[in-house]
Amino acid sequence: MSAQPSKAEAGAASQQDDLMERVVNLCKRRGFIFASAEIYGGFRSTYDYGPLGVNMLRNVKNQWWRSMVQLRDDVVGIDAAILSPPQIWEASGHLATFTDPLVDCRNCHERWRADKIAGTCPNCGSSDLTESRAFNLMFKTHAGPVEEDSAVAYLRPETAQGMFVNFLNVLQTTRKRPPFGIAQVGKSFRNEITPQNFVFRTREFEQMEMEYFVPPADAQKWFDYWLDERTRWYRELGMPEQRLRLRHHEPDELSHYSVATADVEFLFPWGWDELEGVANRTDYDLRAHAEKSGEKLEYFDQATGERYVPHVIEPAAGATRTMMAFLLAAYDEDEVGGEKRTVLRLDPRLAPYQVAVLPLSKNEALEPVAREVLGLLQPLCMCDYDLTQSIGRRYRRQDEIGTPWCVTVDFDSLEDRAVTVRERDSTAQVRVPIDSLVSEIAGRLRSEARVQHS
Ligand code: GAP
Repeated sequence: MSAQPSKAEAGAASQQDDLMERVVNLCKRRGFIFASAEIYGGFRSTYDYGPLGVNMLRNVKNQWWRSMVQLRDDVVGIDAAILSPPQIWEASGHLATFTDPLVDCRNCHERWRADKIAGTCPNCGSSDLTESRAFNLMFKTHAGPVEEDSAVAYLRPETAQGMFVNFLNVLQTTRKRPPFGIAQVGKSFRNEITPQNFVFRTREFEQMEMEYFVPPADAQKWFDYWLDERTRWYRELGMPEQRLRLRHHEPDELSHYSVATADVEFLFPWGWDELEGVANRTDYDLRAHAEKSGEKLEYFDQATGERYVPHVIEPAAGATRTMMAFLLAAYDEDEVGGEKRTVLRLDPRLAPYQVAVLPLSKNEALEPVAREVLGLLQPLCMCDYDLTQSIGRRYRRQDEIGTPWCVTVDFDSLEDRAVTVRERDSTAQVRVPIDSLVSEIAGRLRSEARVQHS
């Protein structure tokens, strides 16, 4: 086989590079994601979510919460502290084993993850590298004003441990019994050696994780169940089938706590890569915390008189990474009326705004009705209000940020109390009475939600 890519392969690769560049540019230009501390030159691969990004990221997390907590009676949520004492990370194994192999290039002094560079420094091409050494990825700090050993604390590198250490609290306060789950969404921190690919791998990111506690004999059944559920979630929010796949880990890839893991992968511009890991963590974590804390982290089944340590199936997804994948999948360019347009074909539930209210012109006569329409829709969904440029330009601007519906108030609206609703993908327009606008948009939003659970 030739090592050189064919023309077609090279073309496809450059198209993908292009896609990445276009999405990154769009994110900055339109206010999805900014480099953090940009006025000081940026800060080491950290990012800030702008007015559109914060809406979309919130939608991704809300859709996860809706599917994992709201629509189930066997899962409850928590929000645990980010700062945590060393005991948690000693018990979990993170202090000893949450490491990446670090090498230095002796030529240019850059540092790399040994497992990602195949023996050659990507910066200068030298293969004169140091022996690799284990680098712990946890951020260490001190709680309180004295920087002494007894004050050491860590920023959590995963949300999962907050759920294990609250196992008894949740069991006792909710009276749940296995199978049941504890879910959490929040920030995690890892001192990644080489953060890369925009928000794909960063040092500060958000996770959406659920620990599902099951009788030990049922672990495999629930592992398979959660693999299906989680791939379905991405598909139903519009992720194209051909850009999603499941990949089971080889035994030598498994984390220290897992006996089986499969990743939900997305076809990123650089190839298949992980969106989420579903792991069978066995009773590793509960046993480790029971041993370290001296608490009995068990379940007593009063009906059978059986006492056991539940096994855990964990679907663990990245919220920021998932948002990026939805953006990449939604990005499209087409032609409308002979004019090129950029359009984000986002599911309405993920789009930063569901509706844009657009007075046809800046004419003051239109404003009272336009503001009335805005006030009617705002309690239902996120709305933008824009009267800056020509209506055609404003449609394009909304297409580019994925707004599924534009509501235009024109001079006829003053007479007939109706507005034009324009749909993003088809650009089809229908006239809708203002009095039925809220139920029209609510119906469109509901029909998306129904598809998810049909
Ligand atoms: N509790 C298990 C756990 O944390 P993980 O595979 O290390 O498993 C779960 O992380 C998910 O969190 C990943 O699939 C990814 O989506 C996201 N994630 C992990 N590290 C990340 C990073 N440095 N930047 C962005 N997302 C990350």
